[in-house]
Amino acid sequence: MSAPVASGAVARRETGDDCTLVLVGALGDLARRKLYPALYRLAVDGLLSPRFRLVGVERLPHDDASYAKAIGEALASATDTGGPVDPAAFERLTRGVRYVRGDLTDASLYGTLCATLESIESTVPTDSRNRLFYLAIPPSLFLRVVEGLSSCGAAPRTHTAEEAQQGPWTRLIIEKPFGRDLASARALNTALLTRFSEPQLYRIDHYLGKETVQNILAFRFANAIFEPLWNRGSIAHIQITVAETVGVEGRGGYYEEAGVLRDMFQNHLMQLLATTAMEPPGTMSAAAVRDEKVKLLRAVRHFDAVSIAENLALGQYGTGSIDGTPVPAYAAEPSVKPDSRTPTFAALRVFVDNWRWEGVPFYLRSGKRLADRVSEIVIRFRRAPGVLWPAAERDTMRPNQLALRIQPDEGITLGFQAKRPGAELALSPEMELAPVSMRFSYERDFGGQPVPAYETLLLDAMIGDATLFARSDEVEQAWTIVDPLAAAADAGPRPELYAAGTSGPPSAADLLARDGFAWHPLTLAAAGR
Ligand code: BG6
Repeated sequence: MSAPVASGAVARRETGDDCTLVLVGALGDLARRKLYPALYRLAVDGLLSPRFRLVGVERLPHDDASYAKAIGEALASATDTGGPVDPAAFERLTRGVRYVRGDLTDASLYGTLCATLESIESTVPTDSRNRLFYLAIPPSLFLRVVEGLSSCGAAPRTHTAEEAQQGPWTRLIIEKPFGRDLASARALNTALLTRFSEPQLYRIDHYLGKETVQNILAFRFANAIFEPLWNRGSIAHIQITVAETVGVEGRGGYYEEAGVLRDMFQNHLMQLLATTAMEPPGTMSAAAVRDEKVKLLRAVRHFDAVSIAENLALGQYGTGSIDGTPVPAYAAEPSVKPDSRTPTFAALRVFVDNWRWEGVPFYLRSGKRLADRVSEIVIRFRRAPGVLWPAAERDTMRPNQLALRIQPDEGITLGFQAKRPGAELALSPEMELAPVSMRFSYERDFGGQPVPAYETLLLDAMIGDATLFARSDEVEQAWTIVDPLAAAADAGPRPELYAAGTSGPPSAADLLARDGFAWHPLTLAAAGR
């Protein structure tokens, strides 16, 4: 991983290799909102090689100069450039920028692209002629583009992991959704692997690029005190929440096909589960970390019709309000069927059948239009024996809790009991207890905001570190878990409605209540954060 955070400052990082980045879908939403800001920040931080060159591929009429201008406009309206655009960094990003116009289904486009790459590389030493392709396009076009790149010779297949590392290298970054179910994910992997080798493929799950997700590994494996407790002996259950306040944001057409299980569970939630629960890898190499994640996903107990009914709660947002502003129901969003059965919320109870986690429930939930935007992992420990306290006090004693906050307000909070100040005898059973906490905050301890995920991931791809990208077996294993759930949701009745701005449907609360637990409150105020 390329983005460790050093004490007191943002960390030392390696500069990306010399390369030409070919951005296919150069003026799409993802490129404008996420990729240019991330590349620009790499330029600001001095992490783009002086030989970095950008080639945009799109259908719209542009030339090199107007494409550079469009990048400038995207940066000016982006929220995560870290302030006004610095002309020198912008110049580093757009120096020698090229625009290739064409239709991705037209074979002649790939010839033009090849010629453009060769002209850029004609002045570059052979071992610096590295090519990074980024497919920021709908998945229906993936294979067509892969075919085009490969058959015109723009993207040669390498055969060994070493070849994929050493210049001149060719790498391909692919965006989700990676398949719609297990069968289509397998078919996509098979097709990609006829043109590229696995070490050339970088499948993005942007959650893995978030600092705080990487910090789960640092927290677990760079400290001696937590890992001995990280098992069924000490932990009662674990909650993983990715809650959003946004709705489908104009993506109704895509979301109708996906729903929350394909959009969030197959990728982000499964990655968070694997990172939280995996065994320590032998090294921090991409292979070792990904092997452990796959092993963990393989240990997740599979679902059948009966266990799906018992462990999955679905919901769809109705009308309501977010921050005091009324918002429409999902079914009234553009491109959504009025009688849509697509779930926008899911809560799932998962068991991991291995030595470490036997019998420990993991509760996963994610939804749109919820009361607050919060992603966090809450580890609830077993209760302390209450024998020293009177029954009334015992009942209010909260179990220890560790909350790993991924966003916003990134940090880690450990909750425990303390004696409420007062004049009782120190060891008297009348001593009153109160829950208190110890907190690490990224902002307070390191200053500034964590590096945005796409910046980390783009740099990692330029360096050739695939640790934070999903391997084919990881993707397929995650689908093995989620596929039956998504199929059941497709075939099931309309999910329970929940009002926008709430914590989701009551059935999600029931899932934990049955086991004697409750969700960590979603709203910041209610949780006392
Ligand atoms: C994307 C989903 O992968 O993640 C979106 O397609 C979702 O529906 C987004 O809104 C959430 O990401 P973040 O970084 O805003 O939590």
